Formats: sequence, structure tokens, C-alpha cells
Amino acid sequence: MSFDVETIRAEFPILQRQVNGRPLVYLDSAASAQKPVAVMEAMTHATRTAYANVHRGLHTLANETTDAYERARESVRGLINAASASEIVFTKGATEAINLVASSFGQSLLPGDEIVLTQMEHHANIVPWHFLRRSRGVVLRFAPVLDDGRLDVAALGELIGPRTRMVAVTHMSNVLATVNPIAEIAAMAHAAGSLLLVDGCQAVVHQRVDVQALDVDFYVFSGHKLYGPTGIGALYGKAALLADLPPYQGGGEMIESVTLEDVTYADPPHRFEAGTPAILEAIGLGAAIDWLQGLDRDAVAAHEHALYERVKERLNGANWLTEMGTAPGKGAIFSFNVDGAHAHDVAQLLDRYGVAVRAGSHCAEPLMRRFGVSASARASFALYNTLAEADAFVDALLKTRTFFA
Ligand SMILES: Cc1ncc(COP(=O)(O)O)c(C=O)c1O
Repeated sequence: MSFDVETIRAEFPILQRQVNGRPLVYLDSAASAQKPVAVMEAMTHATRTAYANVHRGLHTLANETTDAYERARESVRGLINAASASEIVFTKGATEAINLVASSFGQSLLPGDEIVLTQMEHHANIVPWHFLRRSRGVVLRFAPVLDDGRLDVAALGELIGPRTRMVAVTHMSNVLATVNPIAEIAAMAHAAGSLLLVDGCQAVVHQRVDVQALDVDFYVFSGHKLYGPTGIGALYGKAALLADLPPYQGGGEMIESVTLEDVTYADPPHRFEAGTPAILEAIGLGAAIDWLQGLDRDAVAAHEHALYERVKERLNGANWLTEMGTAPGKGAIFSFNVDGAHAHDVAQLLDRYGVAVRAGSHCAEPLMRRFGVSASARASFALYNTLAEADAFVDALLKTRTFFA
């Protein structure tokens, strides 16, 4: 199989629009990716032809919708090669998935138990653990990041000890694009009797993920970064672990039986899906995954990498700019600061040229502090971006540069 970016672009209507009189150059896919027609149509089709609540009804529409919802779960299973679809819990997104694990698993933690994180985590993989620090007296330990953006894996290993109950790390940093050695970290965590949760929000978009080969205990991601809808994401958990976790929220569909005196819970994954789920969004996520899996993912990754390399090559020798994160094997994200300019100003000036980049702390304040900055600008590449867009970004950046030089 091969990969033709123009064919792909035709499937994303929004990419045709103009911004400030220029063709849109959308380089903010790490925050949220645009959606192909296949996703819109799957959601519209379900709404128009087979919509009802799931897992409740006995009528035809209810059964058809339930089948579509469960097919989407199977698509998620296939995407990350989980052993069983019952190991996939639909959540609102990665944030809810991590909160679910922290809240449910956290009930077994004792004061002095330790959670090992890294300095490069998104707030979604920090704040839920701070809740446990406050409520249960657990201790948070943060593995350092090296100057080039690599995780200090040896230091991480030293932080993992007999009191470590959970290691929670990102698979790919949303700022540095560093890809962490998850299988190695899993071995270190398990050798110490700890569990491992991996935040796969960015990685799952750009590379194949096999949760069994990586031997992770929990893996989370969001649908909207994966060309799917907002309001849906997934938590993978090993069957035996999910079976032991108490529920996160109570309500319909997560019970086995309810009496006035007591309640017993359904088996996973339904135990963790209280209330009416995001049905259409799950179907949309399934469509996004099926669509993505229909592409040559190695060719997609090579294409995205070429975009990043083009930007690097064009900016080679630009001593007025500092890139954050240059780890070997990093993903296609270019985070940077321009000397003498605030990242917000850079982003606003780029917008005048139709170029959409993110600027700010990227929900990673500890990482920003580590690098001694309050913000950075970030151009993140997706499969629908072209080399011409990489050039348009650099051209616009060179023009904005004149405002600050
Ligand atoms: C690495 C990483 N983790 C977690 C999140 C949170 O994702 P969401 O807001 O979709 O729950 C993001 C989103 O930017 C992210 O990039």
C-alpha cells in the first residue's frame, strides 16, 4: 500500500477553507485533529437510520445501535491489539480514563504509597494523582527530562521502589514529541511489583500500538486527536485488573442488581460505563479507527516525519529560534520559541498567514518550568498536511520573525 496526501485531503472538507484570506494551514492536530467524511457520515448514518439507547432495549433499533456501539469497541480493541473487547472501556477521553484509574485504583492506596510520573506529563496525567496525594497521602515522584527532551530512564528506574504502586507515563510527549521506551518501563515497573499506566493520546495517532507486546496494564487515549469525535475516548485495562477495580461512577447499566439495601456490579467493561454513553461518538470513533487502519500506517508515519524534517531543514542555522525537544526518534511535533517574542504573539502573527499553531503551556506546566519557559509555540503535523504547508509555515515564521528581530 502507499499513501497519497492529496487523496486524503479530499476527505477533509475543512481543509478547503480560507483563514484571513489565505488557505488554511492546520498545524494544531496534536490539540485536536480534523475529521474525515467517513466519521461524519458514520455518525449521521447512525442518527438517521439506527439510533436508540444501547444495552437496554429489546426492539430492533436498540439492538442495531448496540451492535454498532459494540463494533466500535472491537475497533478500539483491534487498534491497540487488546486480547479482548471487554478490556476496552469507553470514556469521555484520556482525561476521564486517567481519572477513572486514579479514582478506582486509588481506593486501595495507603499513605506513603508511591506513584512515579515524569516531568513531561500532560496535566491529565498529573492532576488526578495529586488528588490522591491530597486525599490518601500518596507520594508523587517525577522522573526528570534530559536537555534534549529524552526521558531520563535510568533516573526513572531509580525512583521505582518497593512502595511504588503505579508508574504513569506518556507514550509520546505532546510538547517534545519524545517517544518513551514503554516496554522497558513496563519491565522496570513490573519487576518492582508496580502497575503501569500509559497515556497514549499522541502516540496512538502516529504509530502502531500493541498493548500486549508492550505489556502495559492500562492504556488511554482520546478520540478527537485520532480523527474521531470529541467526547469519546478509551481506557484499556488488563482483564484481571479491571475485574478487581471498583466502579468509578454509579448509575444505570453498571450494575448487576440493586436493592434498597445494597448493590452488586456488572462485569467490566460495563461496570465502568455508568449511564447512557456517548453512543454516536463511539460509533464515530470506530469509523475513525477503521478509516485509519485502512491506510498504510508506516507510509503515514514516514509522511508525517518528512514534514517535520522539512521544517528542520529549512530552519537549520536559525539562531533566533529554540526548539524544545530534539530526542532521537521523536514524533512530528515542532515546539519552539522565537527569541524576544512571546509564543502567543508568534501564534497570532502566524494566524494572519492562515497558519494555525498552538501556543501556551500545552497543559504541561511542570515541563515548561523544567525548560525555563512559560510557553512555547507548537506546530504539530498530521497525515493530511503537505510539504507545501510545511513550507508555508516556515515562510510565515520567517515573516513574523521580522517583527521581533
Ligand atoms: C499527551 C496528552 N495526554 C492527555 C491529553 C488530554 O486529552 P483530553 O483532553 O482529550 O482528555 C492530551 C491532550 O492534549 C495529551 O496531548
